[in-house]
This record gives sequence, C-alpha cells and structure tokens, in this order.
Amino acid sequence: MHEDVSKIIYSEDEIQAKIRELGQALTRDYADAARNEGLVLICVLRGAATFMADLARAIELPLEMDYMAVSSYGNSTKSSGRVRILKDLSSDIEGKHVVIAEDILDSGLTLMRLMEELQCRRPASLEVCTLLRKDREGQAPIKCRYTGFEVPDEFIVGYGLDYAERYRNLPYIGVLKPEVYS
Ligand code: IMP
Ligand code: MG
Repeated sequence: MHEDVSKIIYSEDEIQAKIRELGQALTRDYADAARNEGLVLICVLRGAATFMADLARAIELPLEMDYMAVSSYGNSTKSSGRVRILKDLSSDIEGKHVVIAEDILDSGLTLMRLMEELQCRRPASLEVCTLLRKDREGQAPIKCRYTGFEVPDEFIVGYGLDYAERYRNLPYIGVLKPEVYS
C-alpha cells in the first residue's frame, strides 16, 4: 500500500467485480436504445477516465465514448461550488441515449451543472453511472440510475481519483492520510 494512504476501501478485484455488475445492468437496460437511437458514454475528465475505460468494456453493446472536462476543485479538497466547461464533447448528442460516467459524487454540484448543460442539447435520455457516491450532508439531489459504492465522507484517492494530480494510477481506492493535505 502507498505510504500516503491510511486504508484501502476497495481492492482492484472488488472494483472490477462491481464494474462487471454495472456493465451487465447497462447491457440489459440499453439493449434496444443502443441499437436504435444509439448510446453515448460521456466521461468527465480526468477522474472518470479510468472508470469509463473499464465500464465501456463491460457493456456488450455498440456505443460511443466521448469526453468532457469541467473544473471544480483545483488543488484543494473542498468543492468551490462553481463549475466551468474546459473541454466540450467532440460529437452531437441530440437524439441519443447518454450515460455520464462519473468517478465520484461529492457535493453533486459538478454533475448538476453538467446535466443542465447536456439536457439543453436534447438527448433521447440522460442518466448517470457513478462509481462512488459520498454519504454526506448537503449533497445536491441527483438521481443516479447506477451507483457502484456508497463511501464515507473522507478524501479518497486511486483508480482515477487524485489529490493535486497524484495517486490516479493506484489500482485500488483508498483513504488519503489527512496530513498529506493539511
Ligand atoms: P462534486 O462537485 O463535489 O460532486 O465533486 C466533483 C468532483 O470532485 C469529482 O468528480 C472528483 O473529481 C472530485 N472529488 C470529489 N471528492 C473527491 C475525493 O474524495 N477524492 C478525489 N476527488 C474527489
Ligand atoms: Mg472528476
């Protein structure tokens, strides 16, 4: 285990087992939609890139993958409550079924803002698949059709999640020692 991590909450195997489950659910739910209007997975860069790459391979349907970057935290561990689009999608989503792949839902502000923006582009449907959802007060009321794990309100890293751009390549998800960021 990395010396800056106090404990591992999900191992590589546990993450992959959960992604297989999520992939099966999406494969079942979007079987017709993917073949008719089309299915697009949207990755919120950069944290969700690892998750989306694995999730896409667990879905046995034709699909597109597109990427978007929004800013939220900078190098701090607290959400600023403001979100800005830094990189937009490459393709049009009008009339297609869209699933946003998110790494973690914390305050929910990032997703809330993003969903408003994407809804304006008139997709056939818009849903969220988040690997992690923090159990905390004051979270925006976002309906996630797919949630991997509910996690405690601690700062976590690994499997795509960073602190100041580090730790994304840890293969597991773990709690970052508070002394690293305080
Ligand atoms: P929200 O807007 O507060 O829901 O947070 C959105 C983004 O903040 C997530 O997509 C993550 O990239 C990042 N984030 C939130 N909590 C954590 C954490 O515990 N570790 C690492 N990144 C986090
Ligand atoms: Mg993110």
